[in-house]
Amino acid sequence: MNILITGGGGQLGRDCASRLTSGHRVTACTSSELDITNAAQVQTRFSQLEPEVVINCAAYTAVDQCEQDRERCFAVNSTGPKILGKLCRQVGSRLIHISTDYVFDGKKVVPEPYLEDDPTNPLSIYGKSKLVGEQAIAESLEDYLIVRTAWLYGMGSGNFLKTILRLTLAEPGRTLRIVNDQFGSLTWTTRLAEQVKALLGSDLTGIVHATAEGFSSWYEGAVFFLQAMGVEARLVPCASEEYPTPAHRPANSILKNARLMQADLNTMVPWQQDVQSFAKQNREALLQEALAKKEQA
Ligand SMILES: NC(=O)c1ccc[n+]([C@@H]2O[C@H](COP(=O)([O-])OP(=O)(O)OC[C@H]3O[C@@H](n4cnc5c(N)ncnc54)[C@H](OP(=O)(O)O)[C@@H]3O)[C@@H](O)[C@H]2O)c1
Repeated sequence: MNILITGGGGQLGRDCASRLTSGHRVTACTSSELDITNAAQVQTRFSQLEPEVVINCAAYTAVDQCEQDRERCFAVNSTGPKILGKLCRQVGSRLIHISTDYVFDGKKVVPEPYLEDDPTNPLSIYGKSKLVGEQAIAESLEDYLIVRTAWLYGMGSGNFLKTILRLTLAEPGRTLRIVNDQFGSLTWTTRLAEQVKALLGSDLTGIVHATAEGFSSWYEGAVFFLQAMGVEARLVPCASEEYPTPAHRPANSILKNARLMQADLNTMVPWQQDVQSFAKQNREALLQEALAKKEQA
């Protein structure tokens, strides 16, 4: 298959590029190689590459920054997917688009998970912009798959687990307070890329949820990760209201991979298994990166 990946410099984009390469012809474009908000540029790339499948991993993912930078946030997360959707329809390409748990308000009582057809009600500008992006795609073409995921971590860019490690190593004796009343599923980009690969051969359309199995709070996830890394830390659970952020986040971000299960296509595994593998496979690189950032600070 001839595949174009947008947002190829991000953590999921990179893992999709490396995992999909065997058996497919993959072109992964970074934001400087292809800006999805630039319709003319997207059209030129489509003409050059003639992709059968486009995987949109590009997004404005700085959730708190989106509250201030609304215009850019909507351009990347709403207008960009619309441009991709229209062009995919014109040339007959399939569009696989990545979306988020933040389209929900998280008011379901934990541990009840969100299903694909549950009503959306985003709390943040980021969530709103991603929802508009989903809607624009659904209105533009029929052959699309929206993959909603959550709480991503990988080697490709910054994420929660890397931040916790960096802060811990920066000041080993320091107590870190971590939110313990928001629940979700830490999801490894390498595993999600494998899931996307499994979906390439399917004819599923519409929305699917794809997160790791099981759930934790941010605090529980951080404790588990640092133990897996063999790094001692002083972590203390706290409530969201003790750690105010510009963007409101859902208290319940637990998604059920219901449609993947029904279609017998779910390749996701328990979050603990993947956090262990991530730590084991990348321990040295993660420590080096965290220490280098500490020196730069
Ligand atoms: N991270 C999470 O926890 C999380 C949770 C749920 C869902 N998701 C979704 O999962 C997907 C992948 O996220 P991720 O964590 O891999 O994000 P990421 O690491 O921040 O990567 C996003 C990439 O998109 C690129 N990008 C930004 N604006 C662009 C534009 N106009 N045109 C083309 N590329 C552009 C960025 O490039 P620059 O760095 O050069 O700007 C970056 O490389 C996104 O759709 C995101 O909304 C993420």
